[in-house]
Amino acid sequence: MKLWAGRFQKETDSAVNDFNSSIAFDARMYRQDITGSIAHATMLGEQGIIEAHEAEKIIEGLKAILVDIEEGNVEFTVDMEDIHMNIESLLTSRIGQTGKRLHTARSRNDQVAVDFRMYVREEIQDIIKIILDFETILVKKAKAHVSTLLPGYTHLQRAQPSTLGHHLMAYANMLKRDVTRLEDCLERMNECPLGAGALATTTYPIDRTRTAELLGFSKPTDNSLDSVSDRDFAIEFLCACSILMMHLSRFAEEIILWCSWEFKYVELDDAYSTGSSIMPQKKNPDVAELVRGKTGRVYGSLITLLTVMKGIPLAYNKDMQEDKECVFDAIDTVKMCLPVFAAMIDTMNVKPENMRRSAMDGCFINATDCADYLVKKGLPFREAYMVVGKLVHTCIEKGEKLDTLSLEEFQEVSDCFHEDIYQALYMNNCVNGRKAIGGPARTEVNRQIAAIEAFVAERT
Ligand code: ARG
Repeated sequence: MKLWAGRFQKETDSAVNDFNSSIAFDARMYRQDITGSIAHATMLGEQGIIEAHEAEKIIEGLKAILVDIEEGNVEFTVDMEDIHMNIESLLTSRIGQTGKRLHTARSRNDQVAVDFRMYVREEIQDIIKIILDFETILVKKAKAHVSTLLPGYTHLQRAQPSTLGHHLMAYANMLKRDVTRLEDCLERMNECPLGAGALATTTYPIDRTRTAELLGFSKPTDNSLDSVSDRDFAIEFLCACSILMMHLSRFAEEIILWCSWEFKYVELDDAYSTGSSIMPQKKNPDVAELVRGKTGRVYGSLITLLTVMKGIPLAYNKDMQEDKECVFDAIDTVKMCLPVFAAMIDTMNVKPENMRRSAMDGCFINATDCADYLVKKGLPFREAYMVVGKLVHTCIEKGEKLDTLSLEEFQEVSDCFHEDIYQALYMNNCVNGRKAIGGPARTEVNRQIAAIEAFVAERT
């Protein structure tokens, strides 16, 4: 029998029963539901709202149910609609009348709000750990490649010299922001909605501060209507996941380019690539492509929940049951993508000679350095820019590079050029001269690496 059967004369239509039920997906919150109920029962007992021995019996019953669920000995039923009523009715079937006292001074509305928050809270902590592991891999890889020359691109055109270490640390900084974004979200959501009741709290002398404390929240939420209506925490979480996936997706895109024959900057480990069913020569970057593809899925979850929430009046509406699947799917997706992607980066074989060749290959990525050389000799930058533009044009016509021009050819366009121009154009000097904060110089990338290492160390 339904826990709410009292005012009904008919059984629920069986299609409605299935339609209405959320047990198929909210069963995964069983632990949070039991933890929340234990805190609630503890508080009810302490406040004398139920007898102390009743509270104890309820808590024992809930603990036993937890063990049985974890051992796979409990079957939930759609007839009991969701995880909350499944567990409550199971409790009553096991401990009898006392079980019926658990739902005193509580509604499923504050119950689901607290369970869902606790679930997301744990997952955020898990995801942060996985991101930090990835950071460690990036740092290790960057350390090995602080001097590995790599062209930096704008518009996918070779632009200025950089290094692979510098490039990897760019992603390390994005992931650092993803961590702090999740931490911010965690801090903001860490207020306990339990005790808000259906929407207007209760007349029982409950102690919301106590349940908040028992469940590890910083404090109770401040307004009961808001407490049961709010899913901002889940939206914010999905937003942080979407930005994280956007970062992974950009990285994935670069890896896909880099392992094409056109680039050949990296070769993925055999264990992290796949073959073709028809073309025997193929080695495909499926992992990177899937990460790029799954990004769309996480964005979808964000849009789903924003749209579910946009038009519903206060307080709880059944629409809000649609909050969970999208969040769970995003969690599963992010937790699946991160470690595989990180391991793919960890094991990929870098081809420094190909990166270097691209940097050196007559694509003039030291043209800015050539202009800067003239500026250091006293020319205004705009003039220097024009001079070097002409030189580049000459080079293209003659099939030369800047550093293969003779001193006479240099001096034809400007008498500021001297023998030391060759030093200025030397690619390693171009990189290591860029030692402004954030730059690709070896010393500067080492500082960036140390900063990320410290960030990770503070959290592990
Ligand atoms: N299964 C419901 C959900 O996930 C629980 C809350 C139900 N509350 C209600 N008043 N029907 O949203």
